[in-house]
Amino acid sequence: MFYDLASSSWGTEEIDAMQRVISSGMFTMGEHVRRFEEDFARKFGTKHALMVSSGSAANLVGVAALFYAGKRPLQRGDEVIVPAISWSTTYYPLQQYGLKLRFVDVELETLNIDVSKLEQALTPRTRMVVAVSILGNPCALDVLRAFCDKHRLVLFEDNCESMGASLNGKQCGTFGDLGTFSSFFSHHISTMEGGVLVTDNTELYHVAKSLRAHGWTRDLPSDSKIFDKKSDDFYEAYRFILPGYNARPLELSGAIGVEQLKKLDRMVEVRRRNAELFVGLMRGDERFIIQRENGRSSWFAFTIVLNPKCDLQRAKIMNALKEADIGFRIITGGCFLRHDVIKYFDYERVGEMRNADLAHDRGFFVGNHPRELRPQIERLRAVLDTAAR
Ligand SMILES: Cc1ncc(COP(=O)(O)O)c(C=O)c1O
Repeated sequence: MFYDLASSSWGTEEIDAMQRVISSGMFTMGEHVRRFEEDFARKFGTKHALMVSSGSAANLVGVAALFYAGKRPLQRGDEVIVPAISWSTTYYPLQQYGLKLRFVDVELETLNIDVSKLEQALTPRTRMVVAVSILGNPCALDVLRAFCDKHRLVLFEDNCESMGASLNGKQCGTFGDLGTFSSFFSHHISTMEGGVLVTDNTELYHVAKSLRAHGWTRDLPSDSKIFDKKSDDFYEAYRFILPGYNARPLELSGAIGVEQLKKLDRMVEVRRRNAELFVGLMRGDERFIIQRENGRSSWFAFTIVLNPKCDLQRAKIMNALKEADIGFRIITGGCFLRHDVIKYFDYERVGEMRNADLAHDRGFFVGNHPRELRPQIERLRAVLDTAAR
């Protein structure tokens, strides 16, 4: 394809890393995963990093951990404020753990939660806010953090789309009480499948660590505060304390992650240079609403929403993109409230979802890659210009 949605970011380093794992014959979670976690925590400046099998698993383990950790654990029926646009598995663990979702519209230009609606979304039952930075663009994490502190709410940061982005010099994914990342193919780093949960809270980390692997104690240090280690090793080896999962990553993913992480800054720089070109070519054309950067975006992709003030048909633009061999897709998952699965949720809308609906009906994104895309972006610009006449 001339301009694809995503491409591989692997070089010989990743293949060599895989080969080392294959030669060792040890494929289940071990040294490489541990090394990746250490590198990840150091890179993002968090106390703890826990690798899991996917970003979705990080969200699941993260939400579950909040039900078993702390003096005020979450409880079924508690309310959580969420943006109307995100990926399905941002929301699923919330539903699975019996939380009630209060959906807030996004801003049309950043595509992130409209923080002016937060007070309206708050009720006496609100316990948590889920912050999502859409497609590399930091949401108002500073405002969300202050709001959560003021109202004693948990800030859960699903940063699966925005590794390498920052706001006021602080890495996205580290504003929350816990943050999650994805390293699925097409994301800022790729470990085939993979995810990471970060937190500075040691109790939460230990609970998440137990939940990652069968709810057992085996991976926990003996001085962990979440259980009392007994002297009988026979039972301690298979001691279950929490209703957990098997969300462990493979050693191959850990080994690839170590190599990918070394390249992250450089890959984000290339993405940002592509974005400079894209924004430079699109800026000022009122037919197309592009994502307004908040802080320092890691530019997962380039979004375009057809301005409702202009009489443009998305189908016509999509046909032109198809003919030009340019890939495109819906923005993240579109407005989540528009999906059939919503019938299984306990939820309320906080006002209208005008912007999320506009992004759903009149938006799409094209890919960004960790390599130079000048010819692709220039062709995209020309195709859009002609198709929107
Ligand atoms: C916001 C968000 N959360 C969670 C995920 C899930 O990540 P994964 O595909 O690694 O399960 C994604 C996937 O792209 C995402 O965009």
